Amino acid sequence: MSLKIVGRVHISPESDNIIDLFIAGGDLCGIGQPLSLLLKQSPLVTELSLYDIVHTPGVAADLSHIESPAKVAGFNGAECMKDAFKGADVIIIPAGVPRRPGMTRDDLFNTNASIVRDIVEAAAQHAPNALIGIISNPVNSTVPIAAEVLKKAGKYNPKRLFGVSTLDVVRANTFIAEAKGLNPLDVKVPVIGGHSGVTIIPLISQATPAVSFPPDQLKALTERIQEAGTEVVKAKAGAGSATLSMAYAGARFAISLIRGLKGEQNIIECAYVESDVTEAKYFSTPLLLGKNGLEKNLGLGKLSEFEQGLLKTAIPELKKNIQKGEDFINKK
Ligand code: NAI
Repeated sequence: MSLKIVGRVHISPESDNIIDLFIAGGDLCGIGQPLSLLLKQSPLVTELSLYDIVHTPGVAADLSHIESPAKVAGFNGAECMKDAFKGADVIIIPAGVPRRPGMTRDDLFNTNASIVRDIVEAAAQHAPNALIGIISNPVNSTVPIAAEVLKKAGKYNPKRLFGVSTLDVVRANTFIAEAKGLNPLDVKVPVIGGHSGVTIIPLISQATPAVSFPPDQLKALTERIQEAGTEVVKAKAGAGSATLSMAYAGARFAISLIRGLKGEQNIIECAYVESDVTEAKYFSTPLLLGKNGLEKNLGLGKLSEFEQGLLKTAIPELKKNIQKGEDFINKK
């Protein structure tokens, strides 16, 4: 069952700027519903339309009673995809199966690759200028899949396609704050690379405020951030992976995209994009967001020796994941 949300988002009360927001996938217990709740709550949103293959009218009716400006409408069934996507400026995609205990994100490839392909094909057709944020795993491969689909449709713009790795940043901020007794709202840790295991590279040396740890604690914290998703998968014991924290992270990223589109200055988020910063063709780094989506890639910054080692380990894995995604579209 998929939940898709198409919304018109009024970016700010003092502007008539209207943005269409589309969220594809996420069933009633998964990411999609809490994500739509958070976006419905946002004072920036004035219209929110939902799309699903089932149950959408109920979710839309429920959400529509919340006393926020966003008007909610529900679309049901694949034949509504055109209407759901039409005119979208921002598309967020959490469609596809989540991990169960013992699975890697790459184990999801066979199911999720075609789901992302089909949704992005529709996006290319009906909302060719939208900013697209992909949550569906394995993000390291689904973003290259989306890029290849968009290229085939002649609609690819690398400044407008993002793999959503915000949850890694959110987790790093939380864990570092806990370790140092800081308020998590005050902590900012860039997380670069990809979104799976060793490809997740927290740059604790660049944290603000500056923090330092003895080597063994630094290693343990880094590994916890890399494996935080698995922590949730194990705790849920077969009932899926992170949904609430992901909804929070997805809403944060979607709102940042919108604030950038609105022309707000200094909107910076890490995300997985086409990149020439390393040998990996797609790579997450801090990005300056703006009216065109990605305005400026802010690069790696200065890495510690420990972080350079993490990067060296991540690159071959990332390259493999990227190739797998590209091959899925191009080798048939
Ligand atoms: P879920 O199973 O609760 O929801 C997934 C939804 O996708 C379901 O509603 C399903 O019906 C829908 N779907 C399936 N086939 C579809 C199709 N052909 N078209 C449209 N929608 C379709 O899963 P959950 O927990 O919401 O996770 C969704 C994805 O997000 C998973 O791939 C998961 O691994 C990923 N994820 C990514 C994170 C990140 O940091 N980027 C963090 C957590 C999860």
